[in-house]
Amino acid sequence: MSMQDTDIDQRFSLARSIAEEAGRLALDYFENRGSLVIETKRDLQDVVSIADRNVETLIRDRVAATFPRDGFLGEEFGHVEGSSGFTWVVDPIDGTAPFVNGMPTWCVSIAVLRGGVPVVGVVHVPCDDELYAAAAGRGASLNGKPLTLDPTRTIQNAMTGIGCNTYVAPERVGQIIAGLLGIGGNFIRNGSGALMLAYVAAGRLVGYYEPFMRAWDCMAGYCLVKEAGGDYLPFPVEGEALLGGHPVLASNLSAYSELLALHQG
Ligand code: IPD
Ligand code: CA
Ligand code: CA
Ligand code: CA
Repeated sequence: MSMQDTDIDQRFSLARSIAEEAGRLALDYFENRGSLVIETKRDLQDVVSIADRNVETLIRDRVAATFPRDGFLGEEFGHVEGSSGFTWVVDPIDGTAPFVNGMPTWCVSIAVLRGGVPVVGVVHVPCDDELYAAAAGRGASLNGKPLTLDPTRTIQNAMTGIGCNTYVAPERVGQIIAGLLGIGGNFIRNGSGALMLAYVAAGRLVGYYEPFMRAWDCMAGYCLVKEAGGDYLPFPVEGEALLGGHPVLASNLSAYSELLALHQG
């Protein structure tokens, strides 16, 4: 086994155990959410609480304790440059809106990038007791069971996840949904893009599209989809692009070209 394999395996193992620990902390906040003070960021739909911040702090501390030279990007506390060639990209709670409203569709999302590629992707869904895990060349799994996409699932015979926010290109979402319905598909949104990407890897959704997401929303899901046998639209992560927002598209190979045409249309 090469040094690079060992480097990935060590981070894959740590990512899984941190995702489980972080999920337990988040679940504790979720079960006691009546006492959380809900704050807003860009508008009233864009919510956050101390749960998001403290879960991210836990993840940062755990990563720094084992890999102090790795870079780290998280939604709540931003980017710290590293020197090892690996960068952790973390959304402590993806689906904060469902979380604060008492719905179970939220997750902890942890990715590790090397050379701009997500080589580790872990999504933990505490309310469903589900751990999605993938690493480059090692496949994807759900609670230890391997995930392999079924090519007979198509846009027309399965559901597609569509995501949106209120502050970037909201009009695009209506166009994409109309286009999807026009080719015989249908859409669903559960408030967590990272979780819907994991659902693509699990074959529950045939694809996922959102016009504007950040790296912490999609990197873990992208690794999961790729390792399950699907594909994704490249997401720029080199240099300053890592901090920006870009379209997200990931799917079963059977659906990719139709979703790409909707994106380009
Ligand atoms: C949001 C969720 C949502 C997606 C938004 C994201 P957050 O992340 O993934 O499903 O549509 O674009 O910002 O704020 O809950 O971590
Ligand atoms: Ca957020
Ligand atoms: Ca997010
Ligand atoms: Ca978040």
